[in-house]
Amino acid sequence: MAGADTTRHLIGLLLGTEEDWPRAFEAVLARAGRVIAEGGREHEVACERLTVEPFDLTDPVRTGLVIDRLAYWYYHPREWLKKASLIDGTYLLNSPFTFQSMEKHSAYCAMLRLGLKIPRTVLVPYKNPLDNARWAYTSAKYNEPFDLDRIAEDLGYPLYMKPFDGGGWRGVSRIENRDGLHRAYDESDRMLMHLQATVDYEHFARVLSIGPETMVMDFHPDQPMHNRYAVSHDFLGPEAGRQCVAISRVVNAFFRWEFNSAEMLVNGDEVYPIDYANACPDVAVTSLHYYFPWAITALVRWAVYCLVTGRAAKVDLQTQRYFEIADDDSLDYDAKLAAYLRLADEHFETERYWEWTAKHLGHLPEVVLDWVNSPDFDQLLVDTVRSTYPPHEHEEFLAHFRGLVGMWATDQAHVLGARG
Ligand SMILES: Nc1ncnc2c1ncn2[C@@H]1O[C@H](COP(=O)(O)OP(=O)(O)OP(=O)(O)O)[C@@H](O)[C@H]1O
Ligand SMILES: [Mg+2]
Repeated sequence: MAGADTTRHLIGLLLGTEEDWPRAFEAVLARAGRVIAEGGREHEVACERLTVEPFDLTDPVRTGLVIDRLAYWYYHPREWLKKASLIDGTYLLNSPFTFQSMEKHSAYCAMLRLGLKIPRTVLVPYKNPLDNARWAYTSAKYNEPFDLDRIAEDLGYPLYMKPFDGGGWRGVSRIENRDGLHRAYDESDRMLMHLQATVDYEHFARVLSIGPETMVMDFHPDQPMHNRYAVSHDFLGPEAGRQCVAISRVVNAFFRWEFNSAEMLVNGDEVYPIDYANACPDVAVTSLHYYFPWAITALVRWAVYCLVTGRAAKVDLQTQRYFEIADDDSLDYDAKLAAYLRLADEHFETERYWEWTAKHLGHLPEVVLDWVNSPDFDQLLVDTVRSTYPPHEHEEFLAHFRGLVGMWATDQAHVLGARG
């Protein structure tokens, strides 16, 4: 039992349809959420699922930190998050202030400004009239006619057409020729589209970041969901791997994103980021499998660290600090990336985070390993497989995921054994 002078913290989970990682998060936090911090002070961190209901703008907020998976499409809780952030200082993974206004397009622009290798990208006006009484007059007067074919030829076929604020493959097409170009543009209707040069790549790295923790994964976008993340630890050379970690962390620190996945196309030592603004990154056990326990560990570790150390939420961007590095002609690409990374690590308190968590949350990796080896985790896997796949596939998928997570447990037991 917690003592009278225990400091209590509450994490809010703002959820949509997911059950798997929230159950995992709840289970691990229940086992590891008591922390003895500096000076021997006891902290207890618990979590609860938030509900959607009317709120007075001055209602007190009990949660010190919220992990949000809903506000990207459900606007009532999004507005509640803003109120909690502005009035109550609630720490958010992620803040709607920077995610709402900084979609894929802004991220491309910002990273171009920092000198990263963004493939050539052109934004074209809407194909079809907007539903707005001002459209006819405005477009007749100010929309310049343009030659779509010339833009495409200039970028070169094949190219990609995709929404400026994309996510979830919605409206993405790979375009091989003129016919395909016009078909895709006609179908884009009232979506605002980028045309983007294709990067031919050897490896597709999907990089999941939670605070200062980053996992670079070997991703196969052409495979079905359960096979997209391959378990291969050294699929990138050290130089490309280092860049993937640095770029993801820099993007997140630049925009103040906390929980995000980035996609990079890799050729040798060249890393081309193409997608790095996912307010609600995939953390399903049925896609992450081997990497799922890592993701839960990182989420718990970062959330507990933020709450117990009283980390203040920051939404001001301080872009000028990054731009000063970008404008320093004495620095080459590698030196700039290293300098951006120093700012990113300062923002995420990376060094202090690892020291603090080793001291005060050193038990967490063991707790996660024990839990993954427990019937509780197996039940989670069974329930998730049952709700995700048709009955005749249950057995096959259960064996598949048990195998992959089991492999993680074996690897992790070695890591912890070697450490202890
Ligand atoms: N410039 C490019 N060069 C090569 N492949 C690309 C390029 N842009 C997009 N793709 C391919 O198209 C896929 C979808 O594009 P993108 O990631 O930009 O859109 P999205 O809607 O965010 O999709 P998702 O949510 O699946 O990541 C990528 O995963 C990649 O396989
Ligand atoms: Mg993508």
